[in-house]
Formats: sequence, structure tokens, C-alpha cells
Amino acid sequence: MSWSERQRAMLREMGIPAFWPVPPEAPVEEAPMVVSTHEQAPAVRAAMPAELAPVLARPPAALPPAAAPSAKPARPEAKPPVSIAAAASAGMEAILRERPEGIDQMDWATLRQTVAGCTACGLCEGRQQTVFGLGHEQASVMIIGEAPGEQEDRQGEPFVGRAGQLLDRMLSPIRLTRTEAEASSQVFIANVLKCRPPGNRNPLPAEVAQCEPYLMRQIAMVQPRVIIAMGRFAAQSLLKTSEPIGRLRGRLHEVQGTPVVVTYHPAYLLRNPVDKGLVWDDLCRVRELLTQQPA
Ligand code: URA
Repeated sequence: MSWSERQRAMLREMGIPAFWPVPPEAPVEEAPMVVSTHEQAPAVRAAMPAELAPVLARPPAALPPAAAPSAKPARPEAKPPVSIAAAASAGMEAILRERPEGIDQMDWATLRQTVAGCTACGLCEGRQQTVFGLGHEQASVMIIGEAPGEQEDRQGEPFVGRAGQLLDRMLSPIRLTRTEAEASSQVFIANVLKCRPPGNRNPLPAEVAQCEPYLMRQIAMVQPRVIIAMGRFAAQSLLKTSEPIGRLRGRLHEVQGTPVVVTYHPAYLLRNPVDKGLVWDDLCRVRELLTQQPA
């Protein structure tokens, strides 16, 4: 079965355009949505809003063969992790300075100001500005990415490039948004690092360690009901593990007593649209957690 123009129009109306099935000749980020056969999927999908059911009912015949998780080993994301030793031998030793004290007691205004003036690692030298994060300060859902890229560094906001546009399209079907709304639907988006690593290189462990208290304070103040860790780097940093993302996703984790759902980074999805089905499973899990927990 393929989508009729009428069905497509309906999906567009629901704000689900490019994240969902589009003709095969579409550009990379608009490639067909794959409904995966992830083992948790049926139960999770049953909890989704009824109007999304037609989308989920797409028959298996439409699946490209590579989509079956059991037939496919977990695919690592593009950039390999940088160990402290490897970073040092590549001349990438982090420049560290003293970090401000009392971060865990700061209010929003003080935290913002402190991040804006932070010089705790060498990344401050190459940045145009810090990227603090954005969204509802009591958001039900907090999204955590890796670090600002070039555009984020220029604009001072997280996820504003192509990956950010895809992120918006991913959030829409589960009724989340980055634009102004009530706490139940507006997310708070933050990164592990508040400054752009030069050339978008991987963050160094020491840079992550210096920046970590800022993110921990943001989580403590937002007190989200669910955290979404986007990408291997955010997941590993947040959960303090070196397990590959393929093993971290599909399980529930916890940080500061808050459930953490791990999923692929939108930038990865732009390169590997075949995995959108797996991300859909993860997003359904988020929606399910929100439904289960009292507001
Ligand atoms: N990728 C991220 O992880 N964060 C951003 O803010 C932008 C791209």
C-alpha cells in the first residue's frame, strides 16, 4: 500500500510531513519513514494517539529489508569516541581552568550569566557565544544533544541547523514543540557542551567534565518528567557509560531520578534515514512515559 495524495495531505495537516513516508526519490532527509519491527513497538504504539494509527498501520511490505533490527548489527554513529589518551596523543589536550563554584545552587539568571562568561576550558577561546539552551523552564520533556555546531555558535540557540529542523519534525507527531507553549508540550533543549568544539570535533572528556555541572543544574531546575538523550555522545556522557548507542536505546535509564530515553541524533538520521523507524519507537516510548506519569 502506498499513501494517496489525500492521506499525505492529512499527514501534512497533522504536522508530520517529511518525517513520514514520502516518495523514494525524495532527498535524504525526506526519505521514507521506516516502521521498524522493534520488539517493544506494538505495545508502545498502542498507546499513541488514535489519529496516528493509520501511519503506524503501514504494512511490512513497505519496509526496506535493512530495517529489521535482528538482521542488522547496531550501526555506530559516524564519529568514534575520543579517549583522553588518544586525544592527548593527537595534540588535543583540553585546556582547563577553574570553574565557578556553587553551580548546583544557582538560579536561572545566575546560571545563564555564569555560562555566558565561562572560561573553564579552552573552548571559550574559539566560540562566538555560549549556547545555554532554550525552552520551557518547567518542561515535561528535556532534550539533550551533544554540542553547538557552527550555526548554533553563531545564533546562540541549540539545534538550529538541518538537524534541528529534523528534530522539530520528529517532535511534532508526539505533540512536542520548541516554540512557546505550556510546559506539557514545550520542551527544553540543552547540550552536553555549551560551547562549540572547533571544526565540530568530538568533545574531549575533560571538556565534558568541566561543563557537566551546568547541565546537571539545568536538569535539576527543569525537573522534566522524561529526558531524551539524542545521540551516542549525549547518551554516553549523561549515563556515564561507554556502551554503544545500539545497546543503550530500547532500555530505560535514569538520571537524577528522571527516566532517560536514548535515541539517535537527528544529524545521524539525516545520514541514515533508514533508522527513522527506530527513533519513532523511542519517541513512542517518550509519549508512553508521559501518559503513564501524572503531570
Ligand atoms: N547538534 C547538537 O547535538 N546540538 C546542537 O545544538 C546542534 C547540533
